[in-house]
Amino acid sequence: MSERVIPLIDQRLRSVAARVPSVLTPPGGLLADSMGRPLRDLRISVTDRCNFRCSYCMPKDVFDKDYPYLPHSSLLSFEEITRVARQFVAHGVHKLRLTGGEPLLRKNLEILIAQLAALRTVDGEPLDITLTTNGSLLKRKAQALKDAGLQRVTVSLDGLDDRIFRAMNDVDFPVADVLDGIAAAQAAGLGPIKVNMVVKRGTNDHEILPMARHFKGTGVVLRFIEYMDVGATNGWRMDEVLPSAEVVRRIQRELPLVPLGATTPGETAERWGYADGSGEIGVISSVTQAFCGDCNRARLSTEGHLYLCLFASQGHDLRHLLRGNVSDAELASAIAAIWQGRSDRYSEQRASLPPDAGTGTRRVEMSYIGG
Ligand code: GTP
Ligand code: 5AD
Ligand code: SF4
Ligand code: SF4
Repeated sequence: MSERVIPLIDQRLRSVAARVPSVLTPPGGLLADSMGRPLRDLRISVTDRCNFRCSYCMPKDVFDKDYPYLPHSSLLSFEEITRVARQFVAHGVHKLRLTGGEPLLRKNLEILIAQLAALRTVDGEPLDITLTTNGSLLKRKAQALKDAGLQRVTVSLDGLDDRIFRAMNDVDFPVADVLDGIAAAQAAGLGPIKVNMVVKRGTNDHEILPMARHFKGTGVVLRFIEYMDVGATNGWRMDEVLPSAEVVRRIQRELPLVPLGATTPGETAERWGYADGSGEIGVISSVTQAFCGDCNRARLSTEGHLYLCLFASQGHDLRHLLRGNVSDAELASAIAAIWQGRSDRYSEQRASLPPDAGTGTRRVEMSYIGG
């Protein structure tokens, strides 16, 4: 039997305790980091578990039955999540995204959604509340999610070919069930629905056109994501990245596209419209065209550690404050101090690394902080 090498991946040890600053700063609806980037988007991971084993995210040999998932007592409760989210909203957050792992595996998620849906932005508006899911449980849950106050969903789907899809999720999950989930989300009014396809050259790049043809004219916004060097377990290689420019070129040859402008500052996706007016696609080019310049996204892990970048190797533990005796004003000030010190811009810096530098440092896993 060959020896199995288990990478050192327990990033959960690498957080620093968040501190309450000696001078409190009351939230004023706008908080800039050290590069002037405002805080607008909070992504909340509600579980580190998933029922899929996509090789680029939770490879089976690492995330096996012995993997030390977080015990239930470590997870933030719904009340704790809502309390933290309220402070972020007071600092100017407009969008909340629930992620995982697979967020629909968290029991009674509708209760959390209802609590979050009751929050209002500093201008008194409802928040944009969305969720990223692999779609496997969506058929069953779409209506309840909508009823609880979820506005829209983003479904991860890496191809339409059942054989390829089953191989990529690595648990033999059929594509038809995800398509049923998308249809259920559409029927429940959880739109505009986005579908995220991670493109790996040589694995599913021949699915680009079938995916574009399938979703064109349906109202679903298909986005192609460059395979990223996130985490430390997926064995990322530059030669498996298909640049977004090539994705657009391939689609253009059959389905003419015109460039569209950004809808909000700091967007991840570059938008393209079908020239015949039948909808749009997006490309997310974190590897070939970094978009750190106005990155306004913060990430809260399942156990309440705040990460300032998808590629961070260290988090800031807010849970000890939540479970200690701190006031909301103190909690908000601790968050402010962390964001104000932020200078992360990993994707921009990676562009200046040698093309095959690979994953040198230990980084947080995407299944732990979400996409
Ligand atoms: P919308 O509001 O629906 O447009 O959401 P979004 O594009 O902000 O979010 P989504 O979670 O769908 O992001 C799509 C993908 O882009 C993720 O799955 C990640 O692969 C990637 N992504 C999202 N945010 C970041 C980021 O801050 N940095 C990098 N490098 N990639 C990101
Ligand atoms: N590169 C790009 N996208 C990734 N995702 C997960 N891992 C990677 C990676 N290495 C995406 C998934 C999903 C979201 C949670 O993040 O496809 O859409
Ligand atoms: Fe699960 Fe999404 Fe990661 Fe795939 S990419 S293993 S569906 S969390
Ligand atoms: Fe933001 Fe980090 Fe992604 Fe750059 S790499 S866009 S700083 S999360």
